[in-house]
Amino acid sequence: MNLLMVCLGNICRSPLAEGLMRRELDRAGLTDFGVDSCGTGDWHIGDLADPRSRRVARAHGLELTHRARQLKTEDFRRFDLILAMDASNLNDLRALAPDAAARAKVRLIREWDPQGEGPVPDPYYGTEADFEGVYQMLERSCRALAESLK
Ligand code: 4NP
Repeated sequence: MNLLMVCLGNICRSPLAEGLMRRELDRAGLTDFGVDSCGTGDWHIGDLADPRSRRVARAHGLELTHRARQLKTEDFRRFDLILAMDASNLNDLRALAPDAAARAKVRLIREWDPQGEGPVPDPYYGTEADFEGVYQMLERSCRALAESLK
């Protein structure tokens, strides 16, 4: 099974989600999963994650080495579950999905957050504290998702 984390720029939220999901799958003893991330936008293609995302990840023992890439139509076939960060992201993905089967793969990641549903807010214009908040939401969601996949 292959999981794809998606946000707008693929430098703040989805690279964190990718790193966290890998770690949570590993902790759950699930080895047969592929995890990747991408963005719907093209502004940061080839870039490492935002320094603030890398900093918050490192503070929690996680190194982010992903280079940003843009979503491609083929991703809707290659991945089984496509996880969006917020409603705008979800709508973009549903509009880009080539067919109903692809659309059905797209879900909001915080559907799995035991502390409540809603968006993972875009922290790009936010503070370091916003990045920590994003980290916490993603960690809870990825942990619960890994448990549910078990
Ligand atoms: P992300 O955050 O979607 O979590 O990676 C953003 C990063 C860059 C931009 C927007 C959101 N941008 O407009 O460049």
